[in-house]
Amino acid sequence: MNSCVTQFLFKLSATGSSDINISTFYKRLTFDIICSCCYGLNSPSEEYYQKVEEVFAIDLTQSLWLKLTCLLGSTSFLSQLIEKLYRSQDDFKRFLNGKQNFFQFGEFPRYWIREKVREIVDLGVESRDDVGKIDLVHLLLKATNKDGSISHGEILQNVSAFLIAGYEPTAATMVYSTYILATHPEEQLKLQMEIDSYEDEGEMSYDVVIKKFEYLDRFLREVLRMYPIAIQQLSRQCEQETVVRDEHGKEFKIEKDDIVQADVYSLHYSTDLWGPTDPGIFYPDRHITQQSQCAFLGFGLGPRQCIGMRFAMSIIKLTLIRLLKEYTVVHSNKLEENWCLTDKRVITAQNCWIRLEARQ
Ligand code: HEM
Repeated sequence: MNSCVTQFLFKLSATGSSDINISTFYKRLTFDIICSCCYGLNSPSEEYYQKVEEVFAIDLTQSLWLKLTCLLGSTSFLSQLIEKLYRSQDDFKRFLNGKQNFFQFGEFPRYWIREKVREIVDLGVESRDDVGKIDLVHLLLKATNKDGSISHGEILQNVSAFLIAGYEPTAATMVYSTYILATHPEEQLKLQMEIDSYEDEGEMSYDVVIKKFEYLDRFLREVLRMYPIAIQQLSRQCEQETVVRDEHGKEFKIEKDDIVQADVYSLHYSTDLWGPTDPGIFYPDRHITQQSQCAFLGFGLGPRQCIGMRFAMSIIKLTLIRLLKEYTVVHSNKLEENWCLTDKRVITAQNCWIRLEARQ
């Protein structure tokens, strides 16, 4: 992770003091770290990165399949049939390509990725006993009991899920953090003071990054409170008919199989939960006393809470610590005019224009 951040800083140093869209640098950094830590791939090819970008460029909210699922209900027979057809498109295209040469269908980027991940897992199986390897694939393979409690297919699904679920939210959190740094210089100063006060003893370990920087921790929680990223994922399907009551005793019945989605914005901007300081103001110290465990859903809650939370926090903290040690983030004239949030599968900003001033 440290060497990926070193590369990221090296690329930034080449930009001098010109205006940069740091969002593209964060995406590449996150991609490199996930590839290195999860797949043991150092310096993955540009082609790999492009395919992942293509997957994320697809606007899921416009997907016909998703629209039909919402219309028919996710548990209906028709929806499940449509989902199966949707998921087998890739295999069908491949089958047709293999049967004739008259017209070749282009491969879906996500199919390409799945095949690459399959190759990586297969390679991992061959070098399973290599004690030097400590990436996620190898850890999962080592955890595979002889009784087969984690199957090859499950490993494949899990390592693919890590890239899909981890790449965009992590890069987006760094983008929002940088936006705050550029627009709240007093917050940046507080972070730099905390970072400078830490005695440098070579490369930072996971424990140091996660435990030592308390203000940075509150800063990031405040970023995710104001800019929740993955709110569409925060839904649950009801397993049995349930009745819930509001504070006035009014009852609401939730039927079996109903899907319930948390209203993250209302929770994150509630004055009752986050006051008395106006929840519209960026104020990290409000996290010193959190009113309720359910008030913050940046990483979700309960048994299905984000599995990559600590991993993501260590990437973001390490990056910001090393960035702010060397540079001060400065507002560019292009920042506000290009600042626009999109919600394709996670809520993110494609453009974050800043300048970096080297610190003395
Ligand atoms: C700052 C970055 C991240 C944010 C804000 C974030 C947020 C979330 C949220 C809100 C959920 C839904 C949780 C729930 O339903 O209760 C989730 C699930 C998940 N996240 Fe993250 N995530 C981040 C980074 C990552 C990373 C780096 C990985 C892995 C490398 C990852 C892997 C996953 C997985 C696998 C799930 C599904 C867990 C399950 O269904 O059991 N996430 N994430």
